[in-house]
This record gives sequence, C-alpha cells and structure tokens, in this order.
Amino acid sequence: MWRMLSTNSLRSFSVFGRNLPSLVSLTVSQQRALTLSFCSKSTSGSRSMDLSDMRKKYKAEEECFEETQLASLDPFKQFGSWFDQATKCPEIGEANAMCLATATKDGRPSARMVLLKGYSNEGFRFFTNYESRKGSELESNPYACLVFYWEPLNRQIRIEGSVERIPYQSSCEYFHSRPKSSQIGAVVSRQSTPIPNRDYLRQKNAELEEKYKDMEVPMPDYWGGYIVKPYLIEFWQGQTNRLHDRIVFTKPKDGESGLGEFQYGAEGGWVYQRLSP
Ligand SMILES: Cc1cc2nc3c(=O)[nH]c(=O)nc-3n(C[C@H](O)[C@H](O)[C@H](O)COP(=O)(O)O)c2cc1C
Repeated sequence: MWRMLSTNSLRSFSVFGRNLPSLVSLTVSQQRALTLSFCSKSTSGSRSMDLSDMRKKYKAEEECFEETQLASLDPFKQFGSWFDQATKCPEIGEANAMCLATATKDGRPSARMVLLKGYSNEGFRFFTNYESRKGSELESNPYACLVFYWEPLNRQIRIEGSVERIPYQSSCEYFHSRPKSSQIGAVVSRQSTPIPNRDYLRQKNAELEEKYKDMEVPMPDYWGGYIVKPYLIEFWQGQTNRLHDRIVFTKPKDGESGLGEFQYGAEGGWVYQRLSP
C-alpha cells in the first residue's frame, strides 16, 4: 500500500520556525559579524574559511540506537517509524525533503534536493521534469541515492536503488492534485534549461494562466514521477562521542544466498548488519 505524502499532510509542520534566525532576517552588519566569527581562524590573507570548531553535540551513549530498538526488521517499516518521528518534530520544517544524487553514464555525479511524495514496499517516489539534468542522467544511468538528514533528531537515512518512471496515469493523478499555480509552474519551466531572465518566466506564466483560466492544465509529457527501488537502506544516528550508530539493510541480488560476517536475516528477503562509524 502506498503511503502518500500530500501537501496538506505535511504543511502543518512547516509553520514552525527554525531555532536560529535565517541570514535573511539579520541586518547586514549582523550578517557580517556572524561571517567574521566563522572566519576567526582563517588563513591570513586568503578568503578560506576555517570551520574546524563547528561541531555540535549529538546523542549521549544512553540514547544510542541498538538493534533491539529497530521498530521492525522490515526496512520500509523502520523508515516509516523514523519518518513519522521526523514529521512530528516541530523543528523539522520539511521532513520529506531529501537529497537526490544521480550520475551520468560515465559516472560524474550531481545532487539536489527534491521532495519525497510517497513510499511503500515498492520504493520511494518523487516528481520532476524528465528533461531536467537529473532526468537525463536517470535516463542514461537509472540508479540513484537518496539522503534524508533530520538534524534535530541526529538522524540520517541513506537509500540506494534502481530508478524507474512511475506509470503515466499515477503521474497524472498527482499532477492534477497539485494547486493550479504549481501545475502551470511545471508547464512554464523547462527545468535546467537556460533562460534569458526572470521576466521570461513571468510572461510565460501569465500567458498560461490566461490560457488555462477556465480549463484543466494538461500534464506536460516531460513531467512525471520516478520510483527509487532500493537495494540498500542505511539508518544512521549520531553520537556525541562520534561512535555513531549505523545499521544497514541490503537486499541480496537474485541467486545470492547465505549471510556474510556479522550479517543477520531481516524481513522480506533483506539482511542487515552494523557498520563501523
Ligand atoms: C527543499 C527542496 C525541495 C525541492 N523539491 C523538488 C522536487 O520535488 N522536484 C524537483 O524537480 N525539484 C525540486 N527542487 C528543486 C531541485 O533541487 C533542483 O533545483 C531542480 O529539480 C533542478 O535540478 P537538476 O537541474 O539537477 O535536474 C527542490 C528544491 C528544494 C530546496
């Protein structure tokens, strides 16, 4: 069964602010003072920033993440347990924001944030422009890595898998569930292509708003969803003493059998083991 992440179910969590003021809300002199404090150890004469003192406390030893604390030996259920906790954490604005890494056919990587829009035992779904940079990389090299980092919880999840387009009909359903302005935005933007200026977008947006004033916006054929079908899901929890917890689930390839060293059977054909931090 698909766990859909609609805009509404997540919106309530994004109204909470972050602990720190964003740079945008600071005056220019405050921003400068903040920047200078980071530069206190900078190499003389150069503009390089020394950030060696930037370190924060994670969890204490008594809050460590033991195998016995796994919510489930099914990694999708374990994902669901941590994801739910992240959505309930007021300090996390967008629990479904994740970094998506792709690579060209010859292995040159690129990464960017996207929003998780649903997950199930089949995989993790997101939506984008098929002709974007990520889209063209995925067409020629259909593998990706997703990373969630929920800083207030000191948790990271890494997911690696093969990638497929989701069925056209499912993309259409999601496309038309979005606010009309977002649908028009998707039509306006030929994502990752150069444009002359912002006015170009404004003008195109206004034209399309007029065109689709009284009718449904057709989903462009260059837009839709992908599913990442994982073969690896790693759960990481940070410890102040840097003895971080890492429990990784992997799905053996068809025909591969037997458990490796320190490896244990999990549910659904998965195995898991602890990795050194
Ligand atoms: C928090 C956040 C969420 C985003 N969500 C999406 C998304 O769901 N789909 C998308 O195509 N771009 C999303 N973007 C924009 C992408 O990061 C990126 O700029 C865009 O997809 C073009 O990437 P590409 O040129 O590497 O293909 C998001 C950006 C941020 C910061």
